[in-house]
Amino acid sequence: MKKECVLVSGGAGYIGSHTAVELIEAGYDVVIADNLSNSDFGAVEGVRKITGVEVPFVEVDCCDREALKTKLFEQYEFQSVIHFAAFKAVGESVQKPLEYYRNNLTSLMNILDLMREFGRQNIVFSSSCTVYGEPDKQPVTELTPRKPATSPYGNTKTMCEDILRDTVRATPALKGIALRYFNPIGAHPTALIGELPRGVPQNLVPFVTQTAAGIRECLSVFGNDYPTPDGSNIRDYIDVVDLARAHVVAITRMIEGKNKQPYEVFNVGTGNGVSVLELVRRFEEANGLKLNYKIADRREGDIIAIWADPTLANEELGWQAKRNLDDTLRSAWAWEKHVRGIE
Ligand code: NAD
Ligand code: WQD
Repeated sequence: MKKECVLVSGGAGYIGSHTAVELIEAGYDVVIADNLSNSDFGAVEGVRKITGVEVPFVEVDCCDREALKTKLFEQYEFQSVIHFAAFKAVGESVQKPLEYYRNNLTSLMNILDLMREFGRQNIVFSSSCTVYGEPDKQPVTELTPRKPATSPYGNTKTMCEDILRDTVRATPALKGIALRYFNPIGAHPTALIGELPRGVPQNLVPFVTQTAAGIRECLSVFGNDYPTPDGSNIRDYIDVVDLARAHVVAITRMIEGKNKQPYEVFNVGTGNGVSVLELVRRFEEANGLKLNYKIADRREGDIIAIWADPTLANEELGWQAKRNLDDTLRSAWAWEKHVRGIE
């Protein structure tokens, strides 16, 4: 039987590359499309090495509708798309709002437009827990109200969810799932793919691993005077391979016609809130090393705490986070060592 093909836009990126691996291992054909604006070809090579499959790679900007059409939609017979391609740096989005609105909205709209034109059916969209803002109640369910985001980046996620919902509503043949990721961390167990931030990392775990590798002198813990048990922020850190598996399950649900609504939303998190200080301690223990860190001022725009209620994904998708935090933190360190050539 011919395999189902899935287009993975942004597939050279952190989450996209892990998802490409899981899709292939679940029996799908994959086409990766990326403009390499925040990634490099090495991730595609990593996917090929892990899977032993010569995954096709198309270098294309999803904002270029004509190129998307001729290089992808006219060439490959995918029925399904997982759309990761977007800019994702929260701080940068405050400085460059137009770049963020243009890239994140246009790329999704082009993909949806071409899916309609070519009669392609299923799409998973990368959303984020950022759409909940600072929630009034923990943990957050999918029914927790969305709040105006604190950054243009966050706003693009809310807007894109609405664009997807409305387009699905207007297109009988189209089905969509928005996955709201919490904080993805870690790397593939082979250490052949992982997160590769450019410049100074803004996210916690890459800063932690770069500090452990001696590239950064000291980790700043942004605030220990929050109203939480140890005073530092609380997040729901989700292993990237677990997150990748959620995409496979979501796309399969639509391909098999098992979705209950044409447009659905799921939280993808562990359900466990972990503080920054706790994460640092767990990283040290799991990897048997000491991390140089200090308490610093709060970072502007940080919310106090957020973690997921993943019950809907557990029950409806039959998905749950499996990897424990220590294994995930070991995988993050193994990847950093691989990148830096540390024994
Ligand atoms: P990433 O930057 O590693 O991956 C995104 C990929 O998309 C990159 O390879 C980039 O080159 C590509 N890209 C960007 N604009 C493009 C365009 N116009 N055309 C083609 N390719 C383009 O980021 P990631 O962490 O893998 O995130 C993937 C998705 O998940 C993004 O939509 C992001 O907003 C979302 N998300 C990420 C997180 C997180 O913390 N990493 C959390 C929630 C949601
Ligand atoms: C985690 C915690 C920091 C760096 C971001 C986006 C969100 C989503 C996930 C995309 C916070 C603390 C961090 C450091 C620190 N992305 N920290 N020192 O801010 O929860 O979420 O990524 O959709 O939209 O906002 O993730 O990794 O930046 O921070 O103390 O050097 O670590 O204050 O409490 P965040 P993060």
